[in-house]
Amino acid sequence: MTHEIEIESTLKETRKFKPDAAWARRANVPGQAAYKRMAKDAAKNPQRFWARMAKEHVSWFTPWKKVLDWKPPYAKWFIGGKTNVSYNCLDRHLEGENAWRKNKAALIWEGEPGDERVLTYGDLHREVCKFANVLKGLGVKKGDRVILYMPLVPELAIAMLSCTRIGAVHSIIFGGFAADSISDRVNDAQAKLIVTADGGWRRGSIVQLKGIVDEALEKTDCVEKVVVYKRTGHSVNMKDGRDLWWDDLMAEASADCKPAKLDSEAPLFILYTSGSTGKPKGILHTTGGYLTHVATTAKYIFDLKDEDTYWCTADIGWVTGHSYVVYGILANGATSLMYEGAPNWPDEERFWRIIDKYKVTVFYTAPTAIRTFMKWGDDHIKKYSLASLRLLGTVGEPINPEAWMWYRRVIGRNHCPIVDTYWQTETGGIMISPVPGGVTTTPGSATLPFPGISADILDHDGNPVGPNEGGFLAITKPWPGMLRGIYGDPERYVEQYWSKFPDKGIYFAGDGARRDKSGNFWVMGRVDDVMNVAGHRLSTMEVESALVSHPAVAEAAVVGRPDDIKGTAVVCFVTLEGGVEASDEMGVELRKHVGKEIGPVARPDEVRFTDALPKTRSGKIMRRLLRDIAAGRETSQDTTTLEDLSVLARLRESDEA
Ligand code: WTA
Repeated sequence: MTHEIEIESTLKETRKFKPDAAWARRANVPGQAAYKRMAKDAAKNPQRFWARMAKEHVSWFTPWKKVLDWKPPYAKWFIGGKTNVSYNCLDRHLEGENAWRKNKAALIWEGEPGDERVLTYGDLHREVCKFANVLKGLGVKKGDRVILYMPLVPELAIAMLSCTRIGAVHSIIFGGFAADSISDRVNDAQAKLIVTADGGWRRGSIVQLKGIVDEALEKTDCVEKVVVYKRTGHSVNMKDGRDLWWDDLMAEASADCKPAKLDSEAPLFILYTSGSTGKPKGILHTTGGYLTHVATTAKYIFDLKDEDTYWCTADIGWVTGHSYVVYGILANGATSLMYEGAPNWPDEERFWRIIDKYKVTVFYTAPTAIRTFMKWGDDHIKKYSLASLRLLGTVGEPINPEAWMWYRRVIGRNHCPIVDTYWQTETGGIMISPVPGGVTTTPGSATLPFPGISADILDHDGNPVGPNEGGFLAITKPWPGMLRGIYGDPERYVEQYWSKFPDKGIYFAGDGARRDKSGNFWVMGRVDDVMNVAGHRLSTMEVESALVSHPAVAEAAVVGRPDDIKGTAVVCFVTLEGGVEASDEMGVELRKHVGKEIGPVARPDEVRFTDALPKTRSGKIMRRLLRDIAAGRETSQDTTTLEDLSVLARLRESDEA
């Protein structure tokens, strides 16, 4: 058995929060009865429900002929329909009855040093048309892949929307990834253009984005041009004939660019994410279904209104930023706030200052951030009014009930509903979440599948398990935002997501969960070799291969250890090459090495040296044993002690025999 399911039987949460009647009356789903009608209607005929959503929330140049074509595991949605994502996010807010939005803020942006910009829908439309023309001028055509490696500046959203305008496929790489991670992705996507910046600001320092791109490009030969946006203004190398300044190109570009009429199934973006085996997977999303899913969920789950100032703190480099900083929010004509930097720069009050300053109404962040705020203490927060907030959300990992209660009390001042939203890079949009105003919440549970989504909890044979029994979280019907494949690797797509319950057309998400008596889902976390570190997915294999690429390392095994703040901490067990001494310095060096190979996000929390890794007789590393060892010990950073794990392994083997 490769998957283990451990039920957290201690989790007996019974606190319940019914929607407040006055809040619910003003909501986009106005109350429990309205929600029940919506859910019942969607359950009766999910295709009809999604077709209605696609009509209401997306504008089409040509209507579709068929809602769904489902040949498991391949789905096509809204077949024959033609649309354009940038048209839906921009142009239609400048036309007809929505034309007043031309001078409404689309993006409110604050840089880490304190600089501010507001781009109205009119501004954003103009910039996107211009950059779309720049892309065309550089030879980018429909279907070509464009890498975006940028700080969190409006130009990142502009570049994304420009790609969608002409049918180019963007692949965003989070600014915390290192050169090798970039070259791997560039090569896999066979991208011909990179858009980057000289640098970005993080905790008062400059992240050397352009320098990292230069390093990455030594290992690729498909990239023809690099467009560089000037953000920090420090001096960078510009390679003649290859590197071009954003500002120079934009100065010459026309602001007139018609949106391409794209097939509903035209590729929209590729986003790389960690899987349980070695190399990152390029998750492919397409146009019409994805847009329908994110626009619909954004409207109902974040209850978006024209008056809202919505702030999702995620970086656009992760799927949360794609779907709920940019596409889902702009498709609704709402105002999306972006903040470039760290939450504790120049001090721990930055977020609360931003909320009061811009009067943020809807706030969406990660449990790891919430636990960090808790640690920083309530005093930082009490000074601020936060009276503008009306709805709070979380995403990225299970939220422990105490953090949920703290979020409700200290940030939400006991009057904001909380939406705990469960989803994945692969699902495109939110899958399980309360609809505020319509669903009673309970701390720690993402509650119910969104209307039109069919989720279940299954045992190894694909049979539904009983209430409160742990099992595999599965999606039993296709949904519009679902991934359409892994770029360039159709076999891995089938193997990774659809082989757990073969031939049934059931998607296995990789998470374990249980459902309580009232039908609420409790996601318990990953059951594969993917760790969820501070809300970021890391594969144990990737960290292991980074470790063994160091000349001093003979063998390595990486496991996650529960951590109060990060959710999971990365613990490495390392066997050194003969003749190399285990030392604190070596521990520090290996942590740095992984940071350099994959990026700061992956830097191990702990490196432990051992003579040999514990293995079964057939040679498999006993990860469960390592997980127990990692969890059972006080947090220590690096340790020089050589642990004799083989003894433990022998004990464990006799136990299991
Ligand atoms: C986890 C992020 C519990 C889960 C949008 C999933 C969650 C992985 C929640 C996807 C939640 C995300 N409750 N677990 N509300 N949201 N997860 O691809 O393990 O970066 O499989 O997408 O995060 O992470 P990804």
